[in-house]
Amino acid sequence: MEIKKVVVIGSGTMGSGIAAHLCNANIPVTLLDLKTEISEQARDRIHKSRPPLLLDKSKINNIKVGNINDNFNTIKDADWIVEAVVERIDVKHNIYEKIFKDRKKGAIVSSNTSSIPIKVLSQNLTADEKKDFCITHFFNPVRYMGLLEIVKNDNNDLKKINFLKKFCEDELGKGAIICNDTPGFLGNRVGVYAMQIAMTEAFRMKLSVEEADAIFGRPMGIPKTGIFGLYDLIGIDLMADVLKSFVKELPETDKFHEVAKEIPLVKKLIETGYTGRKGKGGFYRVNKTGGKKVMEALNLETGEYSLSKKIDIKSEKIDLKILINRDDKYGQYAWAVISKIIKYASSLVPGVTKEFNDIDEAMRLGFNWTKGPFEMLEEIGVKFFFDKIDEYKGNNFLENLAKSKNEKFYGERQKYTEIETLGKVKKTAIIIDRNNSAEIYRFKDYNIVEFTTKANALDYDSMDALKKATDKPLIIINESMQFSAGVNLSYTMDFADKNEFRSIEKFIRYFQETCKHLKYSEHPVISAPSGLTLGGGFEVMVHSNFVASHTNIVVGLVETIVGLIPAGGGCKEMLARWLDTDEAKNNPNYAPLKVFDIIGYGKTATSPVEAEPLKYLRPQDKKIMNRNSLLEVSKKILHENIEFKAPIETKFNLPGKSAKEEMIKVLEKLYNEKIILDHGVKVGTELAHVLSGGDTNINKALSEEDLFKLELDAFMRLIETKETQNRIKHTLKTGKPLVN
Ligand code: NAI
Repeated sequence: MEIKKVVVIGSGTMGSGIAAHLCNANIPVTLLDLKTEISEQARDRIHKSRPPLLLDKSKINNIKVGNINDNFNTIKDADWIVEAVVERIDVKHNIYEKIFKDRKKGAIVSSNTSSIPIKVLSQNLTADEKKDFCITHFFNPVRYMGLLEIVKNDNNDLKKINFLKKFCEDELGKGAIICNDTPGFLGNRVGVYAMQIAMTEAFRMKLSVEEADAIFGRPMGIPKTGIFGLYDLIGIDLMADVLKSFVKELPETDKFHEVAKEIPLVKKLIETGYTGRKGKGGFYRVNKTGGKKVMEALNLETGEYSLSKKIDIKSEKIDLKILINRDDKYGQYAWAVISKIIKYASSLVPGVTKEFNDIDEAMRLGFNWTKGPFEMLEEIGVKFFFDKIDEYKGNNFLENLAKSKNEKFYGERQKYTEIETLGKVKKTAIIIDRNNSAEIYRFKDYNIVEFTTKANALDYDSMDALKKATDKPLIIINESMQFSAGVNLSYTMDFADKNEFRSIEKFIRYFQETCKHLKYSEHPVISAPSGLTLGGGFEVMVHSNFVASHTNIVVGLVETIVGLIPAGGGCKEMLARWLDTDEAKNNPNYAPLKVFDIIGYGKTATSPVEAEPLKYLRPQDKKIMNRNSLLEVSKKILHENIEFKAPIETKFNLPGKSAKEEMIKVLEKLYNEKIILDHGVKVGTELAHVLSGGDTNINKALSEEDLFKLELDAFMRLIETKETQNRIKHTLKTGKPLVN
């Protein structure tokens, strides 16, 4: 079997996302809708989407479009037909009748339904047709959400299902979990319950919207949108429809009903057009007062909006035990929500799934939770949980666990895939060192460093761990969303606030020393980035000898945006890459000017395809669709490089004054056009100084140390200015950079 051509029917949110992702995998795809205009508009939406659904925008026309009347014959040579039309059974049945009349024999037909059972979907199909029919439930946005639930029917050709699963893993990079035919499958069944319990408990315990989101968020290993923020993002009206469908499908005894009751305030929001971000606002809204945009939050008791408050629960780390042990309303809320999610998820074993493990993975891949309910239970501790929980009669899983009292009940992770993932190997590895910012795992022939801070921001401890781990080949890889969002700016600002600039200097030097050490240590160093790989995160990656990058990477040097310049060797390595081009050999100013343009604008790439032309990634760096495979690929690189020898130190012949003058001209033009202001000129001038090589000439070979020194001095001059400090503070406070 092979999948060489795919037709997607229905070009709404999901159909267009699926088509875009097939295009990412270089599979020819046709997108059909009722009218060609609709699928054309969908293609336009894909092109403009942010974050981008396409890895390479120039491939947009590889998605062919058409309508189901004139272009239906395209399905004749499709190997897989994905139905993603509206969630209406009559419409879906009609489409299947047409598809099965025309499809190539043996072609797979699947539905993206989120709630209609496969029994119902396939009720009009012949036994032979059922062999090739299944549900492939993708999550939105398709490129970025890892989960794909595949639901079989009794007649399925299992070989074909396994083939499809493997195709979706290898080519589309999905974590494909085979599920039973039960309402909401795994992800939504538990995920929507979790959202509802988080919401109803917040109402019951009279927590504010911001308080609930501050707890049901990062402290629990859940994305920071929290519960009310997530409701706004999904759409409050859409959530109401989802709930209705669960209420209809689930037996009366299911605990879901307790959390699906209509809440008067929510009903009123929908009726008045407050449906979330797409509407007039929701639990949060952006309002204008005095010409300024402000964020407001809804008071759950009065229904009035007021200025949104930042809640500081004074806990940086994800530590569930500490959280639920807190002797305040936050602790009580956390326990109420977590214990009920654990109870509900475990009540689905074995009825809904035999593998509790799959529920955790569905939450990880489909809702971006760091841990699923069962891992939360393991972390809290079995004894602790049963000492605190009220009753769990009739819950087979919990009754058995209460008897066995097995603290280590969890066993393997990520059973749904045969890939040797980081999640699997970590479970059996020895942790040889751990500090506040990273962990070092030891294996027979290599080490792993995993960063552990918020967004994996880097500090002294992160560098320490990297340095210590180079006594063996090293793979820098992590399970959390971001490889690293860069240097921890609040760590740096704490020193600046106390006027301890020497400490900042010491840290930057240590950062440089570590990066250099990664590049030249005796054993190979491999970075396996995914998600944000910015600033200092990029600098760690760029000093690694090899890179195995996930295709969902956001990579770049963004320091100038906060009024700084890269000082961990980012300028140096970018220069090295651009100096190693034919153009640079003929024109000494070519490389410095190119890098000036890239770093000056703080350019980022949102995929390897965008990263290569900027030289953030190199052609030889591996680019991988399935995030789960990053470790396997990294290990393969190690095995292919047993004879590894550290590279020879790079030398830099830079033009000095002439290049700097050209860059200053660029800055003057930008200044005159009011694109940059005074401080922008200052930052640009410092960058120009570093990239031109400072006081040098083309015949002088500068060492890496010389370049590090230039970076450090420029960085220090900038961080000592109030303007840069204000920019950093603004970014830390708002999460957004200051414009200009
Ligand atoms: P949508 O409403 O955005 O798009 C549906 C598309 O189907 C529309 O473009 C419509 O013109 C087209 N359509 C309707 N009847 C058609 C027909 N007879 N032939 C061809 N096209 C037809 O819907 P969305 O959100 O993309 O959902 C599609 C399916 O995916 C549904 O079954 C839904 O339950 C499921 N789903 C939706 C998710 C979401 O987050 N929106 C997530 C996972 C699954």
